[in-house]
Amino acid sequence: MTRRAVVTAGTGGIGLETALGLAAAGFAVTVVGRDAERGARAVERLEAVATDGGPEFVAADLASLGEVRALAARLSARGALDVLVNNVGAMFPERRLTVDGVEASFAVNHLSPYLLTEALLATETLGSGAPSRIVNVTSGAVRTAKHRFDAVEPRGGYYGFHWYGRAKLANLAYTLDLARRLAGTGVAVLAADPGGAATAMTDGTMTDPRIVSPGLRLLWPLVRRTFERATAGPAALAARPSLLAAADPSLADRTGLLLGPETTPITPTRWATDPRVVRDVLRLSREAAPLTPA
Ligand SMILES: NC(=O)c1ccc[n+]([C@@H]2O[C@H](COP(=O)([O-])OP(=O)(O)OC[C@H]3O[C@@H](n4cnc5c(N)ncnc54)[C@H](OP(=O)(O)O)[C@@H]3O)[C@@H](O)[C@H]2O)c1
Repeated sequence: MTRRAVVTAGTGGIGLETALGLAAAGFAVTVVGRDAERGARAVERLEAVATDGGPEFVAADLASLGEVRALAARLSARGALDVLVNNVGAMFPERRLTVDGVEASFAVNHLSPYLLTEALLATETLGSGAPSRIVNVTSGAVRTAKHRFDAVEPRGGYYGFHWYGRAKLANLAYTLDLARRLAGTGVAVLAADPGGAATAMTDGTMTDPRIVSPGLRLLWPLVRRTFERATAGPAALAARPSLLAAADPSLADRTGLLLGPETTPITPTRWATDPRVVRDVLRLSREAAPLTPA
């Protein structure tokens, strides 16, 4: 039987490389993105490597909770899913709100993958065909993140890199908690840290000094060089942790792992398993991204 995989933000960057790897490994891959032309180009590339099952593109803006719910309904209607790679992520130089009025870093990097996952679990799209895997793409930026989650937006000024890291930390805390919640169900939950790669995200936003706090801005030439070095590699290499987490047979029956850039398990920051962080992230997620809108 054909195995089905979904990769969000799978029409470019690390997501497309992940999708290509899954298609070559025999999955029928659905890639999600906003732009139909980019989607069509991705499908062409996927068709060239697919070994079983036709790839497809589904359009959705994952910054919109309504579009995430509609995407979940569309995916559910097609039956069981074997792999979900929540790859979407974004960093913004200036604070912005989504159509739902939610701060965009938190919405795209955490609420969107959270809501898609919960919606697919609720309809047993993930789970009915167990064993299945959920892979959430994280970032080393979690290490510089604030770790209070009493509100969607932290106190203080907006700094894109740090707010991105905080949203990724929320998502990592959710991921590791979900692995515990789903233990024994046949649904494995893993996090993948791609390290760094030259992509649309890093080539654009990470050249803007406004993304870091004023203290780091004083050291901007040094910080920028560090960012450049860390994100100079190819997306294909950065996709390896996601690919391994999604499909490698050696990880069958493993759950709750964080795979690092070298594709080996690494220890998550302690804040990702801090009980207060986990409790607040879950409460905030349920309030800000309910399965059924209020
Ligand atoms: N690159 C790095 O160095 C790095 C390091 C650590 C972690 N990561 C993480 O790795 C993941 C992939 O990063 P990347 O660098 O490959 O990102 P990227 O280059 O910005 O990803 C491009 C893809 O994202 C899609 N996309 C962007 N916004 C979207 C939205 N609102 N809704 C739906 N699709 C959207 C784009 O399609 P459309 O434009 O058509 O929508 C395209 O398919 C992210 O979670 C990121 O946080 C990256």
